[in-house]
Amino acid sequence: MVSPAQLLETALPVAREAAALIARMRREGVEVAATKSSDVDVVTAADQACEQLIRERLARVRPDDGFLGEEGDDDRGTSGVRWVVDPIDGTVNYLYGIPDHCVSIAAEVDGQIVAGVVVSPGLGIEYAATRGGGATRNGEPMAVRSVVPLGQMLVATGFGYEAHVRAEQGAGVARLVPRVRDIRRRGSCALDLCAVAAGEVDAYVEEGTHAWDHAAGGLIAAEAGARFALLSSPRGEVVVCAPEGAFEDFAGLLRECGLLPG
Ligand code: IPD
Repeated sequence: MVSPAQLLETALPVAREAAALIARMRREGVEVAATKSSDVDVVTAADQACEQLIRERLARVRPDDGFLGEEGDDDRGTSGVRWVVDPIDGTVNYLYGIPDHCVSIAAEVDGQIVAGVVVSPGLGIEYAATRGGGATRNGEPMAVRSVVPLGQMLVATGFGYEAHVRAEQGAGVARLVPRVRDIRRRGSCALDLCAVAAGEVDAYVEEGTHAWDHAAGGLIAAEAGARFALLSSPRGEVVVCAPEGAFEDFAGLLRECGLLPG
């Protein structure tokens, strides 16, 4: 069976090439190509071209693997390995020229994510991890911040694309913000998880994300010492991520604020 390290080795050059492609397309000019779940949930030609490139490059070296990408069809494959890909996480940032966007590629073996890479061409940062092998930021090992009291936590979050869902999420965040140091809404789930991993925020919560948003970042955070959990709300999954020692208290606070069901 292929090892997590081999899968990461396969993914890294593909993610770098994909990151170079989206950076070039950004310089050449970006427009909205289509909208998805709502008028503000956009996709650009770069999302589509980047996913196509990643799909082709991976299929060239590993033709029997499955593929789940944000912009295309789900291919089940026959090898037991499936690639979970967000060609551009943070598409709205990309559209506006904000550097906080990235390519996210994860490898899943028999349903478990075992390798992941997140490359941000705008920020010039590459995060990577293998299951049991630790996490790195630009090749250097990284770890979560030390646990702080809830009132001193800097918490990253995000919102869905549908107005009525946002209204409820915003109300929950309004209850959260007086209870913590502050909040950040960065616009990329993958980079939010990597920020927990790198100790740049204390925790992250977001409802309504998808597998391609958090597959690589979730492993990277876990390998850096965080607990990454997919919990459920009446509207779907909620990503909760915090250093292992802070997780239960943070989840309790989210329940009190209505960001997790009680
Ligand atoms: C989105 C980003 C955003 C989050 C959304 C995601 P996309 O991914 O991660 O931060 O709030 O839930 O859908 O659409 O840019 O790939």
